[in-house]
Amino acid sequence: MEKQNWWQRAVVYQVYPRSFQDSNGDGIGDLGGVIKRLPYIKKLGADVIWLNPIYKSPDKDNGYDISDYRDIQPKFGDMQTFDTLVAKAHESGIKILMDLVVNHTSDQHEWFKESRKSKDNPYRDFYIWRDGKKGKAPNNWGSYFGGSTWKYDEQTGQYYLHLFAEGQPDLNWENPRMREQVWELMRFWLDKGVDGFRMDVINFISKPEGLPDAPNPEHALYGNAEPLVADGAKLNDYLKEMHDKVLARYNVMSVGEMPSSKPEDAVQYTGLDAGELNMVFQFDHVTLAANPDPRLGKWNDQPVKLTDLKASLSRWQYALDGKGWNSLYWNNHDQPRAVSRFGNDTPEYRVRSAKMLGTTLHMMQGTPYIYQGEELGMTNSHFTDLSQYEDIESLAAYHQLVDQERLVDHDTMMRYLATKSRDNARTPMQWDRSQNAGFTDGEPWLSVNANHEKINAQDELKDTDSVFYYYQKLIQLRHHSDLIVYGDYQELDPDDNEVFAYQRHYKGEKLLVISNFTDHELSRDYGQAAAQKKLIGNYDDDLGVTLRPYETKVYQFDAGR
Ligand code: GLC
Ligand code: CA
Repeated sequence: MEKQNWWQRAVVYQVYPRSFQDSNGDGIGDLGGVIKRLPYIKKLGADVIWLNPIYKSPDKDNGYDISDYRDIQPKFGDMQTFDTLVAKAHESGIKILMDLVVNHTSDQHEWFKESRKSKDNPYRDFYIWRDGKKGKAPNNWGSYFGGSTWKYDEQTGQYYLHLFAEGQPDLNWENPRMREQVWELMRFWLDKGVDGFRMDVINFISKPEGLPDAPNPEHALYGNAEPLVADGAKLNDYLKEMHDKVLARYNVMSVGEMPSSKPEDAVQYTGLDAGELNMVFQFDHVTLAANPDPRLGKWNDQPVKLTDLKASLSRWQYALDGKGWNSLYWNNHDQPRAVSRFGNDTPEYRVRSAKMLGTTLHMMQGTPYIYQGEELGMTNSHFTDLSQYEDIESLAAYHQLVDQERLVDHDTMMRYLATKSRDNARTPMQWDRSQNAGFTDGEPWLSVNANHEKINAQDELKDTDSVFYYYQKLIQLRHHSDLIVYGDYQELDPDDNEVFAYQRHYKGEKLLVISNFTDHELSRDYGQAAAQKKLIGNYDDDLGVTLRPYETKVYQFDAGR
C-alpha cells in the first residue's frame, strides 16, 4: 500500500539559527555556530536539519521578511560559510531543509522597491495594490501583527496588502512572471545541494477572488471560523506548478506550513500521488484552547483538554493514513515549549513529562520534527517584564489589546505572553551552566532562560537517563521499525481525559502506546500483559496496569498473536 520515500523514515531537527549558537561573540547565533554543533545533532541521530530563514533581511520579523533570496543574512555569515555547512552536514549524512518564504517579501526587496515606484512599473503587479474605498483601506481585514492588512503608499496613492507586518508586502501569485521568479530561486538553492523546503504560510498564497470584506474582520486570517484567506481556489494549481517545474526534478522533501487547513485539504496537498507537497504543518492541535472572545485571537492561558488534543491528533492520523503523510510536532519557533504547554515543567515532573510527550508523538504515523532544545526538555522563558520580549507579534499584540483597545489589563496580558509568546521558544539554546549557557561570549540578543543551570546539554550528555538520550532512542526505534513508520493508527478510549493510548498495526505486528498525561497514579488495562516486548518507557521497571505520574510505555506484539 505505502509508497516508500526517504523522508517517511526521517526525523527532522529544527534549528532557529539566531538562538542556536553564536560563533563570533555578537550575541546572535550564526551559521558558524550551526557548523560547530553538527556533531551534537549527529549524536542525537536526526536525519534532516530545517534551518529557519538565513537570507538577507532587515529582520522586522526575524528573517521572515526577505530582501534578497540569493544572499545570506550578514549577521549569520556568508555564502561560503553556508556552502561549508551544507558540505559538512552531508558528510555526516544530514540533509538540509531551507525555509522558503514566498507569500511575502520584505519591503526592502528590489521587487518591491521597483513595484512601489509607479503604477506602470514592470514589477507593479508582483504585489497586490488596490485603490482605497472612500478614503479607507480596500477591505476590513486585520493583519496578524495588528492593524489593517493594508498600507497606504503616498507615491502612487494606492494601498498594498500585507497579511503580516507592513514590512512584509504580499506577493501576487496570480502573476506568472512572479511565479517564474520563485521557481528560479528555488532551483538556485536546490542546485547548490539543499535537500528541500519548509514553506512559510504557503496556504495563503491564493487570495480570495475580489478580496471581499470578511464577515468578522478578526476572522479573515485566523480564528475559529473558516478563515477567508487560507486555502484559496488556486492553491492546488500553484502547488502543482511548483511541483512540476521544480520539486519533481530533484529528490527532495517539502513541507508546507498551513495554518487552519483541514485534514481533507491536506489529503489533496500531500496525496501520495497528487504531486504537490510531501506533508504539511497543520495547526489544529496548537489552536485548541480557543479564546471565547475572537478579538483576542490566540491570546489566552487556557489549559488544553486532553480529550480535545487526542481527538485533534487522531483526526489527522486517520484522515491521512494511506492517502497522504503527516508531519508531527509539538512546538516550533512560533509556539510555546512543549513541556510547559502539554506536560509539566516543574522540577519534579519535567523530565518525565518531556519523555512522555516525545513518546506520544514519535510513535505516530508521520515525520517527527524536534525543535531545538525540546530534546533537553527546555521550558518556556518565564519572562515577567515586558521589556524582556523581542517578538514583533507579542509586542504588537500587547500594544493593540492593552494600550489601544483596552480589552485586557497589563497583568492579564503578561500571563498570556508567558503562556503563548513566540519568545518562549526563542530563548538561546542551553548548552551548559555558564553565564550565557554557552550560547555566546557576548550579550545574547534575547535573555537566556535562568534555568540553564539545571537544564543544559552538557549535563544531559553525561546522564544516560536524560531527555536527550531518550530522544536519541526514539529516533533509533523509528529508523529500525517499519511498524513505527508505516503502521496504521487506532486510538483507544477517546473519552479518557487522563491517558492517551493508541495502537499501530503493520503486517500482523502491533504497537501499543500508553501515556499518562497526569501527575497522579492511574490504572489502565489495554492488554499490555500479553506483549512480547517493551520498546521504551520513562520508568525503569514496569508495574503493568499501573501508570505512575506521566508514565509512558510502548509495547510490541509479534505477528500472529
Ligand atoms: C510563519 C512563520 C512565522 C512568521 C510568519 C510570517 O508563520 O513561522 O515565524 O512570523 O510566517 O512570515
Ligand atoms: Ca554571531
